[in-house]
Amino acid sequence: MIHEFEAVVIGAGGAGLYAALEASKKAKTAVLSKVYAIRSHTGAAQGGICAALGNVEEDKPEWHAFDTVKGGDYLVDQNAALILAEEAVQAVYDLENRGLPFNRTPEGRIDQRRFGGHTRNFGEAPVRRACYAADRTGHMILQTLYQQCIKNQITFFDEFQVVDVVMDGRKCGGVVAVELATGDIHIFKAKAVFFATGGFGRMFRITSNAYANTGDGPAVLARRGVPLEDMEFFQFHPTGIKGMGILISEAVRGEGGILRNRYGERFMERYVPTLLDLGPRDIVSRSMITEIREGRGIRGDGKINDYLHLDATEIGREVILAKLPDITDFCKTYLGIDPAEGPIPVQPTAHYAMGGLPTDVNGRVVADGLGGFYDGLYAAGECACVSVHGANRLGTNSLLDLVVFGRRAGIHIADYVKNADPPTFGKHVAEPAKKRIAELTDGKKGPHGEKIREKMQFEMMENVGVYRNETDMAKAVDVLRELREEYGKVRVQDRSKAFNTDLLEILELGNLLDLALITAESARNRKESRGAHSREDYPDRDDENWLKHTLARLDEDAVRIDYKPVDLSRWEPKPRTY
Ligand code: FUM
Repeated sequence: MIHEFEAVVIGAGGAGLYAALEASKKAKTAVLSKVYAIRSHTGAAQGGICAALGNVEEDKPEWHAFDTVKGGDYLVDQNAALILAEEAVQAVYDLENRGLPFNRTPEGRIDQRRFGGHTRNFGEAPVRRACYAADRTGHMILQTLYQQCIKNQITFFDEFQVVDVVMDGRKCGGVVAVELATGDIHIFKAKAVFFATGGFGRMFRITSNAYANTGDGPAVLARRGVPLEDMEFFQFHPTGIKGMGILISEAVRGEGGILRNRYGERFMERYVPTLLDLGPRDIVSRSMITEIREGRGIRGDGKINDYLHLDATEIGREVILAKLPDITDFCKTYLGIDPAEGPIPVQPTAHYAMGGLPTDVNGRVVADGLGGFYDGLYAAGECACVSVHGANRLGTNSLLDLVVFGRRAGIHIADYVKNADPPTFGKHVAEPAKKRIAELTDGKKGPHGEKIREKMQFEMMENVGVYRNETDMAKAVDVLRELREEYGKVRVQDRSKAFNTDLLEILELGNLLDLALITAESARNRKESRGAHSREDYPDRDDENWLKHTLARLDEDAVRIDYKPVDLSRWEPKPRTY
């Protein structure tokens, strides 16, 4: 079946829905999503969306932009960070006007709370910048935007998995997708295609990411030669539930929660005396692993899967119930713990990809390090790299990134399609995807994907995790290459057409394997420590040689590395002290 639209949006999280809202004002727009829209992972974002509203303490967009640049260890593109911080204020009020139920101050203004690395006056002291709806901020954003999309009669193709993208040189003309309900292949022709498929934390064993976060957009595009930027930077959030990785919001620390080791010590006093538990996430996660390695984890065995305590007991039951109801439920459901009474066992959890599809501030996908673009190809949100997060994202900047850059891309698309020619290709574009699916379902016997997934997740967690070094990463790369080879022999066991989740999971695994290889090779290539990329063999930041973005291209089994300059137009890089 062939569908024709002017704009097609892939992914129905915050970035996809915001772009669809804007694009659909002028262009015939469809949204494809592999999950029902309001199950998108944006809904799992808990603690807040930051904007310098100054509702409870003095604040300025410029301070917000500076914190973003410094938090990202100066790998942030500074003009993009200024746009993010300046447009944040209007973005939050727009969400409020569209009906988002933010928590309020006693005077009725949007309330704001503390989050890691948010400071006033260029690092002087912490500031309350995160606007929030209890600990379900992402959920509320998703509901609010989805309702607006329904009101504006945007066409949704729910439970459609994108398996290929149609490229003609540097021009994008559509995508090929499988309808999960029927197994049928659909072709979507469009003048503009916008990718907003979210993250790919599922390549790690312990992750806060949903099962659906398998990087489908970046993987499909990487296989068509599109470069990926800064893939070596993957954020570990300090507080995932021990052994499960489920997110316990940084808002717990924002409201007064304290990280403690087996001796009950507030160990962050040793590492970030100014911001303590609300230091940037990369630093807090490393501090936790150091405590564990040095035998001060709760078990005290020095092993990497030991854990620490997040003590929320001093916050008080009333505040916990009013501002942290979801994490209270998680603790009770998964751990049998009431956070108002006892400490929460936590460990760093793979949380957020700073890297992804390289874009400009209007969501256009960048083709090379010389300023070239793809025509009709857009991206925003976690699958993209604009780059406002650099080497380490600040908490609550991700929801902001979605709405600011999703909106900007939607506006650009609406304009672009006015003068763009419609694609003219025929049905044959679906042949590679059909062939691949036919191979997987040809009835031959083959290994099961599950074992491959487990090995990939183990390697990534152990050898390309919080701390890295050449020996471990080289081992991970070798294993990933073997796993990709093995993957070529995998066969689907379930041959039915309707809701064949066996097939879906194998397609997703292929995407994760490709992205894991690109991540590991990009990490091996960067011989310095910066933000979330912390190398034991190169412990220092090296601005002279490495203040540049990585652009990695997948070429069969090889990963070719190129570079792109960092926009340093506003602040000179300085050592990142807190
Ligand atoms: O901790 C949190 O609530 C997560 C927020 C974020 O990743 O921005």
